[in-house]
Amino acid sequence: MTPAQAKTRHAELVRDIRKYDAAYDEGHSLITDYEYDQLEKELLKLEEKFPDLATADSPSKRVRAEPLKSFQRRKHLVPMLSLEKIKAADHPTTAEEPDADKRKRLQDENTLVELTRFDATIQKQLGRATVAYVLEPKVDGVSISLHYKNGELALGMTRGDGEYGDDITANLKQVSGIPHRLKGRNPPALLEVRGEAYISQHDFDKMNAKFESEGEEAFPNARNATAGTLKQLNPELVAHRPISAVFYAVGACDGIEFDTHARVLESLKEFGLPTQAHWWVCRDMNDVLDHYRKKVVAHYDEKHDLRSKLPYEIDGIVLKVNNIADWARIPAKSKAPGYAIVHKPIPWIMPAETVLKGITVQVGRTGVLTPVAELEPVFVQGSTISRATLHNEEEIRRKDIRIGDSVIIRKAGMVIPEVMEVVKTKRPSGAKEFDLFKFVKGVCPACGQPIARESVSRGDKKEVAWRCQNVAGCPAQKTRRVEFFAQRKALDIESLGGIVAEKLVQRGLAHEPLDLFDLKVDQLAKLNLGTDDEPRVFGEKNATKVVEALERAKTFPLNRWIFALAIPNVGEETAYQLGLTHESLEQVAGSSVLRDIRELGDLEDERARVSPRSSKNPPKDDAEKEARQKRYDEIKTMMAEAEARIEKAGAKARMPEVGAVAASSVLDFFSSKPGHATLKRLKELGIHPKSDAPPPAKASAAASAIAGKTFVVTGTLPTLSRDEAHAKIRAAGGTVAGSVSKNTDFLVVGEDAGSKLEKAQKLDVKTIDEAELLKLCK
Ligand code: IVH
Repeated sequence: MTPAQAKTRHAELVRDIRKYDAAYDEGHSLITDYEYDQLEKELLKLEEKFPDLATADSPSKRVRAEPLKSFQRRKHLVPMLSLEKIKAADHPTTAEEPDADKRKRLQDENTLVELTRFDATIQKQLGRATVAYVLEPKVDGVSISLHYKNGELALGMTRGDGEYGDDITANLKQVSGIPHRLKGRNPPALLEVRGEAYISQHDFDKMNAKFESEGEEAFPNARNATAGTLKQLNPELVAHRPISAVFYAVGACDGIEFDTHARVLESLKEFGLPTQAHWWVCRDMNDVLDHYRKKVVAHYDEKHDLRSKLPYEIDGIVLKVNNIADWARIPAKSKAPGYAIVHKPIPWIMPAETVLKGITVQVGRTGVLTPVAELEPVFVQGSTISRATLHNEEEIRRKDIRIGDSVIIRKAGMVIPEVMEVVKTKRPSGAKEFDLFKFVKGVCPACGQPIARESVSRGDKKEVAWRCQNVAGCPAQKTRRVEFFAQRKALDIESLGGIVAEKLVQRGLAHEPLDLFDLKVDQLAKLNLGTDDEPRVFGEKNATKVVEALERAKTFPLNRWIFALAIPNVGEETAYQLGLTHESLEQVAGSSVLRDIRELGDLEDERARVSPRSSKNPPKDDAEKEARQKRYDEIKTMMAEAEARIEKAGAKARMPEVGAVAASSVLDFFSSKPGHATLKRLKELGIHPKSDAPPPAKASAAASAIAGKTFVVTGTLPTLSRDEAHAKIRAAGGTVAGSVSKNTDFLVVGEDAGSKLEKAQKLDVKTIDEAELLKLCK
């Protein structure tokens, strides 16, 4: 074989193996294991003979997981989304110690404001004054998904990252209550159901007591025990744990349709799946509030509220629009549907009291110094807390927090522990005030370099904070960036958490996130996570996992990469919208829409400054007034132009989250030295994140014939997969729905179309085929 022939054959092999790998990752094998092994052997042989071909990105260089030692990753047919929490109205604090009645009234007002606000948004989106909802408990367990094919339980999965999860079928088959076969004579061809596995508090306590008596380690809480059990590699063990499940939603389905969410819940029950015993259909928001008061919070009587009636823990209530045809008309968030929302009643956010032993300072990913409360350990809402964020100095002053104080701790958003308030009556005489600058002696506690006072943004708030100036060199910033990069919401590098990130940076193995791609399994395996005296190595298994996850991350879509880069002011939703409206990182870096958005923001600021009618800064004389008026008019024209360009690009509708602050932050990053270096490095690594959404250029939504129209796709289309057809429709500005209703404009019909076609004919919905769809999409 000549080198040229070898090169050609090698390229073929690489292409094929990649294709089979991708299919395998999605849960279907295109070839047998034997055939696959043959290809791999041939590849290795070829590379042995012609070592030049063995480049770093060859499939021969990636490490495969050993089957059966771990779970298989499978793709969810419909992604498993999360639920948005209702933006909390300003929760009343107990600063003035309201009495019980006043507290109840405040809580009730809050709920009313929050739920009504959600209803108002939905009403606007649906263009209707009355919307019916289902009110149901939010189960605090572990999310699972099951596939029933023709009624048989075919697959059981964990949630994973929402797109891919682990195949834990064998374990879920051991869960009492999960039917192996659906009840009823006419099961649908396919039913993907979603629910929650849990261990009841009662069973958990019993189980833990037994563990302890046998000298085994107890679990910290029931949720943790459930998750741990489902990830057992031995299904027999699962059979001996008191796990149950309830189901509350349907993902993909074929051969069955639902018109309302209530109908979904009823059907699941009819199929023999365990469902929740308490849920209510409410004809409008007043009805919701009525049920909420009577049934959920039982008029704020903690002994009699909904929680006392359920065998599992709940961490809120879910409100879902009942009519499923409406769902497609309510815009979704990046990770959550628009038609549902979680509300957490305040009395359920139970605070706890402890002592503030001291305050330390942590350095964040962008160098911001954050004071942290060191607490006497205390049990709050399901776990023991010994540290809590104090946010910033301003917060410490506002709440008048001093070292030695008795403080009330709660979990903000149920997750992040924070100091809510000080119990002033218990303040010891020696309680000490805290001064951050003095405490750190004017330098970053992580790298010893100077700090400066700067304006930073936290969420949508601006604040002044101390910041370490050593962006490239500070080990704390480096560590946080690596950790951020690896987190599940970013590139999901399993097993690479805070401690591993810290050690990688400490040992000089990674200075920035992209260095991770140079790491070899053996290097990582040897990484000492402990101390020199008490070494604890990362190990081969974890190392392999990390390298594999990094390999996978290379193919992640643009939005995940944008988020992972940890650009200030770019959160998950912003990244999602940037990914939706751009095709590549290079395009984001040079984005004219982003420049326009930034310009618009600058112009807005200037307009406020030069306004001849400004009361803050009025013109001194007529001449100045005239000059300022002239500039004011110019700015107005430029703003109108910028606005028109933004509008034309469809950016308002497609990236409402991206304002001037985010836009300039993104542009600044990509024009900075680290930004350039990042792009260059990605190129060298062969990583070219692509948008998994249709590019805006092709989406000239306004002009398209199908803008604003609702489509349903059924049956097998000749060339397009279901997902591809949906993408085409969305790209052209249309909306996709899951089931046919009188609001459907077109039913796209493929081979073996079933009940949807019948229904469309009954309702007189226009039907088209793939060719017609493609024509419409042009
Ligand atoms: S509906 C598309 N209903 O909470 C929305 N989810 O924080 C699908 N959860 O991922 C979810 N109880 O795992 C729904 N009654 C309920 C739920 C529930 C618990 C879980 C679910 C979801 C998570 C969101």
